[in-house]
Amino acid sequence: MSAGSRWRRNVVAAVVGLVVLLAPAASVGVVGGGAPFVAGASGAGDPYFPFAGNGGYDVQHYDLDVTYTPPAPAPAPLTGRLDGVATLRLRATQNLDRFNLDLRGMEVDRVLVDGGQARKVPPPSDGETVEGRAYWQVQDDAARTWELTIQPRPSIKAGRVVRVVVRYHGDTTRPRDIEGVLYGWVTTRDGAMVVSEPEGSMTWYPVSDHPTDKATYRFEITVPEGKVAVANGLPARKPTTRQGWTTWYWRAPDLQASYLTTASVGDYELRRSETPAGLPIIDAVDDGVTPANLATTNASLALQAEMIGFLDQFGHYPFNSAGAIVDDDSVGYALETQTRPVYSRVASEGTVMHELAHQWFGNAVSPYRWADIWLNEGWATYAEWIWSEEQGRDTAQQQFDAVMAIPADDPFWDTVVADPGPLGLFLGPIYDRGAATLYALRTKIGDAAFLAGARRWVARYDDGTARTADFEALFERVSGQDLDEFFDVWLHTPEKPTAW
Ligand code: TRP
Ligand code: ZN
Repeated sequence: MSAGSRWRRNVVAAVVGLVVLLAPAASVGVVGGGAPFVAGASGAGDPYFPFAGNGGYDVQHYDLDVTYTPPAPAPAPLTGRLDGVATLRLRATQNLDRFNLDLRGMEVDRVLVDGGQARKVPPPSDGETVEGRAYWQVQDDAARTWELTIQPRPSIKAGRVVRVVVRYHGDTTRPRDIEGVLYGWVTTRDGAMVVSEPEGSMTWYPVSDHPTDKATYRFEITVPEGKVAVANGLPARKPTTRQGWTTWYWRAPDLQASYLTTASVGDYELRRSETPAGLPIIDAVDDGVTPANLATTNASLALQAEMIGFLDQFGHYPFNSAGAIVDDDSVGYALETQTRPVYSRVASEGTVMHELAHQWFGNAVSPYRWADIWLNEGWATYAEWIWSEEQGRDTAQQQFDAVMAIPADDPFWDTVVADPGPLGLFLGPIYDRGAATLYALRTKIGDAAFLAGARRWVARYDDGTARTADFEALFERVSGQDLDEFFDVWLHTPEKPTAW
């Protein structure tokens, strides 16, 4: 485009902008000539969780400032209280008339868009228009739809970056995912375990809750003096205490999927160390961990630096820090929260290797759709297999053989690994058949091509997301083989593989 025509376009834009400013708010829907201003989608387009994430914008950064009051001692109910201010920097990816954030079980008190306060209004019925800058909330547990809608004014042009401030509060409970498993901001007697896979971050902050919208984070978590709040990344400064409340500051400058956010609170002991390469390790271990579990946990955590060195075969550790949060309560599983996984009651050696491997497989490279979850769990389980072999315990081959010893008529083989359904995300086959798929692939294409492919996978999709089709294409390329039949048998057929 010539300088002259760019200038003329700017004049046209300025005139159009002026007309918009002068026009009554109600007529702001379409700007002459440009794309219309429309509502961003209420979901990211994931068939398993249609209302998770949102459309029309991309969040670049979250500043989460939360004050948390843990429950009173038993027999008081296991309910806490959260008061939050979330400041989001987001970029419109279309001309936006309004947009949604996901927020479940919290009440919004105030919304600002670029400093301008929005009015709270009741949810409008279909086709009804709302005047001016406004927000409303829909909370439908039965439909699993929890949406905060914000109507900015002026509306936001594609490409523009705006700052959205949401002040909110609520009682914290013990939320459950679609399978009935505890997740999200899980209130515990001494604090909270915050583990939000797949879409539980919306239980504690307004978010575009889908891995396709990664962002950076900063945290200021205020808790009663004596409690410790641990989030992702590194301390941004020393904690400060005023009038019986301590604020903990954390910064997570590496792009992060929302389900990997944590801000766990407990009676933690903090321990700092580093890998030989100088990567900071921060572990938080709850005072209430039993002596037997503490011995196991300490032995496992002491191996983290060596494990990170072992996983270097897949590329350098992808984030600014590492470590663990070991709570004395349990949600029934561990989660690979970015840089700092959360463990329930104990951190066993295999689980620590598993969660560390997720930092590459799942966190640096995240699922594009939740149907792609085997790419997280298969790789993390495969890493456990090769670590076991490295340590002189069962070999990867032995563990593969154990999977293949499962009889063909066992329901284990009924899961389609690459499309398990929303109720099947964490089934055994996602982990074990997923890992067996990787091991079988390695056997088929050879160690060199397999490792080159694994490294290429991480490097190519780092900071983003990838899907099963991307995986298949990449390994066909690195191996130079047609693997259609192989992937069909292993990933897309609900039967025990017999030939591949
Ligand atoms: N992704 C976790 C891991 O493998 C496990 C997990 C998350 C999970 N949510 C779950 C397991 C729900 C069972 C049920 O480390
Ligand atoms: Zn896992």
